[in-house]
Amino acid sequence: MLTVTPKTPSPSPFLHEPLPKSQNPNPKPSNSHQIHCFNGSYHKPTYQTERGLQFETEDTFFRHESATGRDLGVLSAALYKQSKQQLRVLDVMCGCGIRSLRYLAEAKADFVMANDGNDAHRRVILGNLKSIERGSGDEKRWVVTHFDANRVLSECYLKREFFDLIDIDSFGSDSSFLRTVFNAVKRDGLLYLTSTDGYSSGGHRPNNSLASYGAYILPMPYSNEIGLRMLIGGAVREASAQGYHVSPLFSYYSYHGPVFRVMLRVHRKALPDNRHYGFISYCNHCGNSQAYSWEELGQMSCPCSNTIGSCSLVVSGPLWTGPLHDATHITKMLNLAEKWGWVGDGTGTDLEKLLSRMIDESDPRLPFGYIKLDEMASRAKMNSPSLKTMMSAVQKEGYVASRSHIASNAIKTNCPMVACIRIAKELQGCQKN
Ligand SMILES: C[S@@+](CC[C@H](N)C(=O)[O-])C[C@H]1O[C@@H](n2cnc3c(N)ncnc32)[C@H](O)[C@@H]1O
Ligand SMILES: [Zn+2]
Repeated sequence: MLTVTPKTPSPSPFLHEPLPKSQNPNPKPSNSHQIHCFNGSYHKPTYQTERGLQFETEDTFFRHESATGRDLGVLSAALYKQSKQQLRVLDVMCGCGIRSLRYLAEAKADFVMANDGNDAHRRVILGNLKSIERGSGDEKRWVVTHFDANRVLSECYLKREFFDLIDIDSFGSDSSFLRTVFNAVKRDGLLYLTSTDGYSSGGHRPNNSLASYGAYILPMPYSNEIGLRMLIGGAVREASAQGYHVSPLFSYYSYHGPVFRVMLRVHRKALPDNRHYGFISYCNHCGNSQAYSWEELGQMSCPCSNTIGSCSLVVSGPLWTGPLHDATHITKMLNLAEKWGWVGDGTGTDLEKLLSRMIDESDPRLPFGYIKLDEMASRAKMNSPSLKTMMSAVQKEGYVASRSHIASNAIKTNCPMVACIRIAKELQGCQKN
């Protein structure tokens, strides 16, 4: 068991630079943070409530908007506990400790290690966890530590302390923990990973995405899905280097940030093949997208051109090209959310809509990416039909189509862009070219 670090204030070793103010949604107010009393000063409490649990945030990094991401993590954790009868969680970047509290209270975790590199958060985390009896010895339910992420993961490995679920709610493009996390997770365990690197997913920093996730990413219209695939792909690469493979249980994009979250199941053996780890191309000329395996690397071309390697072709990868979610798992999450009264509860998070859309997106016949109706309309030089009309017309022609949880005015479909344009034109009674 890792020992709890003493409460001695020391500079956090991991923070080479202070967190930029713009990244912290709860900056310490310049003059209202400490309320002076006659007998000294104390921190102004900033109480929050999430799913009925009360906690404090003070000036830790906390976003209300991440509540859905926490709901999804807790539902997966609870399902894991139900099926394996055990749940040890490592909350590597716990902030104020809200996830740790929710894993304990809602997912009934047997044990949670709540870690945050910033030891100034300690008082808040301890306060937030105090409603859960800490226990002692083998019955200990939680500890609070303040190590750098890679250090806590490596120490767990050295002490042979393994976890069923490791949650790393990081910000930016730090992916260094992808190397160490596999040391501390149990086989068949879960990894809940986060990236907020919207520049890389947008294709604006291909050398950075290459360094962080091993993927050279260029601008593509479905960049927010690319962000999820880049993160999964980075984990696939690190897992296989260590003899494992991972598959996504769910992938969740949220525009606040933006934030890319993936829940991965860790499997014992390396990928039997590289079926879902490859390259994707987008043709700027006709809007067509295609996936390529490693064997097809020399044969990239677009149906709109006779030449191999047309200059209108943009290629990104390697990244995850397989399904973003496991429909069976998400169906169980939805059932549990219903049982817990988390759907249709008027909180505005619309978990039911999100989970249902994820189930639709999980159809194995659907390829990566999505077609934005605005892009289609601009290529067709016409107004776009409504999403509903377009989807049913595409389905009527035998293609698969679903909405995307990532982009509201887009369809995921195996219908190529040129066929979508034709269908849209037919819908509007336009002449075929
Ligand atoms: C996005 S916040 C966590 C928010 C929290 N999980 C929640 O749901 O509200 C990220 C936290 O990670 C901590 N952190 C950043 N880099 C770290 C590192 N390398 N090791 C450990 N903690 C780190 C920060 O102090 C910050 O509290
Ligand atoms: Zn083309």
